[in-house]
Amino acid sequence: MTSEADPLTLVLVGPMAAGKTSVGRRVARRLGVAFVDTDKRIVAAHGPIPAIFAEHGEAHFRDLERAAVADALSEGGVISLGGGAVTQADTRDLLKDQPVVFLTVSVDAVADRLRGSNRPLLAGEEDPVERWKKIFEERRRWYAEVASTTFDTSRRPMQRIADDIVTWRREQR
Ligand code: S3P
Repeated sequence: MTSEADPLTLVLVGPMAAGKTSVGRRVARRLGVAFVDTDKRIVAAHGPIPAIFAEHGEAHFRDLERAAVADALSEGGVISLGGGAVTQADTRDLLKDQPVVFLTVSVDAVADRLRGSNRPLLAGEEDPVERWKKIFEERRRWYAEVASTTFDTSRRPMQRIADDIVTWRREQR
């Protein structure tokens, strides 16, 4: 049992285009807490993600990301992480003992969502959906390691998924 001051913090992880931002925003609204998207924080402070990757490399982006996750956790609220945050052991450590929701999505559903996206890891020669599949498979065990629960976003409206997450989070108090 926690007090009235419980900030109802929860963290959303999952692959690119799983709906972390859309669902997270809705969950935060329902819970009446702040919504933080760590990618947006990084962009606000350091500029566009493709430029960070191009100029400083992925490792630098991961350092910025870990710092953004630590800051967000210290503030509380609904916190949406970039798809690759879980690749870093230090970032996974920050998530221990936090309520972490793993959002999954099917390959069919993700194909539409990836169209027109500007994600550096999907920008090469390879078909973006094939690349997305490989990256998801590589990371699946890390998502599972940090997750307290899993919701699939492939078929149901984002608001319904958000409502289910709110119910789950309230049960954790
Ligand atoms: C990344 C996912 C992106 C963003 C960056 C790297 C990844 O966030 O952090 O492009 O490694 O999966 P989304 O998961 O919001 O697309």
